[in-house]
Amino acid sequence: MNVAVIGTGYVGLVTAACLAEIGHSVIGMDDVPSKVATLQAGGLPIYEPYLAELVTRNMVSGRLSFTDDVAVSVRNATVIFICVNTPPLPSGEADLSYVENATRRIASIANGYACIVQKSTVPVRTGQWLERTMNIYSEYPEAEYDVASNPEFTREGMAVEDFLHPDRIVLGVKTDRAERVLRELYAPIVEGRFECPIHRECSAGQGIQVQVTDLSSAELIKHASNSFLAMKISYANMLADLCEVVGADIRQVVKGIGSDKRIGSSFLNAGIGYGGSCFPKDLKAFVNIAEKHGVDFSLLREAERINEARVEMVLQKLRKALWNLKGKRIGLLGLAFKPGTDDIRSAPALVIAKRLLADGATVVGTDPHATRVAEEVPGLSIVKDAYEVARGAEALILCTEWPQFRELDWAKIKTRMMHPFILDGRNALDCESLRASGFEVVGIGI
Ligand code: UGA
Repeated sequence: MNVAVIGTGYVGLVTAACLAEIGHSVIGMDDVPSKVATLQAGGLPIYEPYLAELVTRNMVSGRLSFTDDVAVSVRNATVIFICVNTPPLPSGEADLSYVENATRRIASIANGYACIVQKSTVPVRTGQWLERTMNIYSEYPEAEYDVASNPEFTREGMAVEDFLHPDRIVLGVKTDRAERVLRELYAPIVEGRFECPIHRECSAGQGIQVQVTDLSSAELIKHASNSFLAMKISYANMLADLCEVVGADIRQVVKGIGSDKRIGSSFLNAGIGYGGSCFPKDLKAFVNIAEKHGVDFSLLREAERINEARVEMVLQKLRKALWNLKGKRIGLLGLAFKPGTDDIRSAPALVIAKRLLADGATVVGTDPHATRVAEEVPGLSIVKDAYEVARGAEALILCTEWPQFRELDWAKIKTRMMHPFILDGRNALDCESLRASGFEVVGIGI
């Protein structure tokens, strides 16, 4: 099937590469010529496991190409994915002007049949606007189209794996034709008819639910899923605070809660809070949508407030251990908003760095992949590894639980530090053995 993907950010690039990998002929389109030039030359603007391999292989096989010309991508496509960004406006609402713009351009070019699929995270009822925009601006009387919503649930750092092995595929459609087209598009994934680029032996296709809904329900499912997960994290963080006061261990508590199948154990890791380009933005947007429709979603506002307060919690723990922070060197292990990605958008580490710098501390950080952060936080020094971070530091804060931080030579770290204090912001280190080696270690809720 011929597929066009408008927008080659995280969502668009993963969608394009994975659909090519399962056998479709895909053209990725982006307005930024330098980005397209990088992709055409075999480079990737982002780091995502397996993505480079997929992009290269499918470009070589001719199933994947990139262009900055929307007409080239759209003209022969049966399915057109809109994957442009929806940045937050100061009000918290999503800016949908890029979505509208992409739709208008599609309308001015598409002259056959196309199923236009919204994959960017958008507020409920965007699909209706898409359809209206197509109706108003379509330039070809012979053009036929369906509008659909197919939210993505891929995690950064796991995007290729999540795309090829989803729990569910949600198809928000208005017509049988759109359902048929999208079922055919995803058939190789649903039926496990592709060679998995990740696992030698894998359960491709097993247990995937294809849920066909109306447009609005599909749109809501996306925002509701992310908001629920964010709420779960804030719940665990509140529990962690309570654990500290009453002398309980959050790791045991969430284990006990999570083994109830109705609750589940994922997204209950307490720590310095959630970040990334999705949860903070989606939560705000969802609250905004609810309020616009007269529904008071203060439950989510509270989840957001709890998350924002995690930085103050970190500062308090540091002050408790170090007294004054002014003039002290504090090291940050990990800068990305989570392991497996170089993405620093709304990363808790950077918010912490800014607060520490404002308090007069000297802040040094390192990350295996997120290295281009200097301009985001003026004053934050980036060094090559944890051993450099440790040099002269009075405290280390583990902000991102990269596996390599667990394998550090802690004896070497200790000799370099001015004072061997570790704040494990993700409860990821072996606190007991670190304490046995002479470190002062503080975790979250333990
Ligand atoms: C999230 C969702 O998990 C995806 O399903 C969704 O498709 C995506 O947003 C999106 O809307 O595009 P992502 O932002 O990549 O994916 O990251 P997550 O793995 O969900 O982690 C988000 C944040 O929560 C990270 O900062 C992570 O450190 C934090 N987190 C996660 C916790 O603090 N505790 C946990 O138990 C889990």
